[in-house]
Amino acid sequence: MALKRIGILTGGGDCSGLNAVIRGVTRTAIIQHGAKVIGIEQGFDGLIFNRTQELTTQNTRDILPLGGTILGTTNKGNPFSYREIDETGRIQEHDYSEKALDNFRKLGLDCLFVVGGDGTLQIAYKLFELGIPVIGIPKTIDNDLEGTDYTFGFQTAVQVACDALDRLQTTGRSHQRVMILEVMGRSAGWIALESGIAGGAHIILIPEIPYNADKVLEKIKLREAGGHPYSVIVVAEGAKERDGTEVTLESASTRLQGVVQYGGVGNYLAGKISEQIDLEVRCTVLGHTQRGGTPNCFDRVLGTRLGTHAVESAAQGEFGHMVALKTPEVALVPLKSLAGIVRKVPPTSQLIQCAEAIGISLGR
Ligand code: F6P
Repeated sequence: MALKRIGILTGGGDCSGLNAVIRGVTRTAIIQHGAKVIGIEQGFDGLIFNRTQELTTQNTRDILPLGGTILGTTNKGNPFSYREIDETGRIQEHDYSEKALDNFRKLGLDCLFVVGGDGTLQIAYKLFELGIPVIGIPKTIDNDLEGTDYTFGFQTAVQVACDALDRLQTTGRSHQRVMILEVMGRSAGWIALESGIAGGAHIILIPEIPYNADKVLEKIKLREAGGHPYSVIVVAEGAKERDGTEVTLESASTRLQGVVQYGGVGNYLAGKISEQIDLEVRCTVLGHTQRGGTPNCFDRVLGTRLGTHAVESAAQGEFGHMVALKTPEVALVPLKSLAGIVRKVPPTSQLIQCAEAIGISLGR
């Protein structure tokens, strides 16, 4: 089909590489199809409340190395259940999906490119069912999306975590301390596992393998007895103890959105083990540094490839799909097949085998 006017939005938590996608979509749509490109601001909010900007080859010229998203994003703002606090302090839920559909029509768009993680892509599929021709583009630092080998943003986050580990190794060794690094990833351990292997961690704790604090202590003591009185631990924010204890944070925003926010497991673990060893324990929480800043080359290339393929797929009328990396190609996967599945590290993963084969403890 002829593409005359297309829309693009970025939803959910940001990550490195979003601007590469925006630039890839914009340039392909303009250069190959002579289309106009409308950027929708702040995720689905821009569609509900009609906040847009035109994207051109000029205003997307220098954004490739830029972190974040020039369109803005939010991990709130689901048009099907939009949650707001009223004057009495109560949470009210509104269905703004008709408003979103109406604005899509008013904007005269042929199709909508939705760049997001599992939550955003589920909303995209519901909009597709409502009649909006949608193509999904997968992003998240967590790498926990089904249907694609990697999501862009992940490799950059792993690099940030690995750089942190390189630094923790030298200071930990100098001071003879146990250094804990808490990384993101929600309920998936991909960032912890890959950065831990790359950064020479001695212990890696991931949500998929509940950890035993005694085994963590055993490994630290074994290293000490072997003449290495320091250890580096990577703990995924969603890691759980064997008894199921996981550490989460509660705030006004988590209550409003009804979501789980992870954070704090690094300090929890530090408290737990420091009582039982002579070595000092320190914890670093890497937080949002994993999400911000310059994307690495892999994420720039992947973002650009997904963006161009999404536009060409729209020109073929392949709506209701997500573009996905199926190495070495970029392919299409039905949005329906994702169905909110969170891709976790499988227990039989070669990455797990690899880590244990070289002596890394997974706390079991
Ligand atoms: O899903 C991406 C992610 O960065 C998770 O790894 C993390 O748990 C969460 O988002 C943090 O969300 P927020 O930006 O709302 O603190």
